[in-house]
Amino acid sequence: MSKDGLILPKDFPQLQNDTFLRAARGEETEHVPVWCMRQAGRYLPEFRESRAGKDFFDTCRSPETCCELTLQPLRRFPFDAAIIFSDILVIPQAMGMDVQMVAGKGPTFPDPLKEPEDLQRLQAKVDVDKELGYVFKAITLTRHKIEGKVPLIGFTGAPWTLMSYMIEGGGSRTFSKAKRWLYRHPEASHMLLRMLTDVIVEYLLGQVAAGAQALQVFESHAGILGPVEFQEFSLPYLRDIARCVKDKLKEAGKDVPMIVFAKDAHYGLEDLSQSHYEVVGLDWTIDPRSARERTGGKVSLQGNMDPCAFYAPKERISDIVKKMLEGFGTRGYIANLGHGLYPDMDPESVGAFVEAVHQHSKQMIKQ
Ligand code: CP3
Repeated sequence: MSKDGLILPKDFPQLQNDTFLRAARGEETEHVPVWCMRQAGRYLPEFRESRAGKDFFDTCRSPETCCELTLQPLRRFPFDAAIIFSDILVIPQAMGMDVQMVAGKGPTFPDPLKEPEDLQRLQAKVDVDKELGYVFKAITLTRHKIEGKVPLIGFTGAPWTLMSYMIEGGGSRTFSKAKRWLYRHPEASHMLLRMLTDVIVEYLLGQVAAGAQALQVFESHAGILGPVEFQEFSLPYLRDIARCVKDKLKEAGKDVPMIVFAKDAHYGLEDLSQSHYEVVGLDWTIDPRSARERTGGKVSLQGNMDPCAFYAPKERISDIVKKMLEGFGTRGYIANLGHGLYPDMDPESVGAFVEAVHQHSKQMIKQ
């Protein structure tokens, strides 16, 4: 224990289930590993209870609560990985922007970026230990408390997705305010994307130093871009992040698998599979077989059941999972949803999903 009573990022319990890490690297496994995006979320009554009456970002700043929320789904389901409870919008906060989580509305920036001059309001060089040290503490604490049961995934939002929130000020159907910048202020857009990339690289390295065993980069708003804009404003930065993080980790003798999840970026699949990430995450609109063909065995794949399949009866979930496994094959594959779980979903469906992945894949691998 350190002076301030927080546990240090060393002497972590030994990992007992490395199925997820092996699948990420394309190695053989006994079953297909499975986890769910938003597995720590409002569909769990215990999550709602822990979060009740508390501000969302105050919760993110409490390492103990983040640890508890991360562990909750593992107590119910035999997931093969955990993702740290936090949010992608802690980065704009660290750069000096105010972000609130408004009930019924979602993330809200009271004072979004409007014109390129507004970039001057941002903190370009962020001291990530000072501004985001609470996330690192949550990761270290969780790595200890998870007792080596499964690996712990750290994450970040990708530059374009963060930029789109910082300009739009919240969710949007069109993200036209953010896209206006791409067409009207391309230079300022690149300046902002570069600033974000630099912070993200430091942030991810800090997460690994704190104990994260894999990293996922969420480009949730990739689908708002067309193929040309994706090539210019998203892909180069996604590549840069993976390359810089990997180079720095290599110097430190570390190797942590990285996942890129660019939602609805069909047109970018080939490029994403050659962007230095070990794993490409897929949304549910992509056919597993065609994703395999298009990525040519260069990467592992993760995904991609439609979260709404959780509304189906349990037997149906099992059939859907079986088809998905047949489509992806069992090697170099991590089962997941095509996006996060919704709050009204039944935890029993999640249990049925995890069980179906394990059972069907064990049988398929034995054959
Ligand atoms: O279990 C997990 O997946 C880990 C935690 C996690 C959260 N947010 C917790 C959260 C992760 C990985 C995220 C990432 C995130 N946050 C993304 C990328 C993934 C995606 O969904 O595309 C995005 C776009 C955000 C921004 C954000 N935060 C949104 C759009 C919302 C939803 C607002 C709402 O009211 O539904 C949030 C809030 C949020 N982040 C919740 C959780 C569990 C729900 C709110 C709550 O707990 O009160």
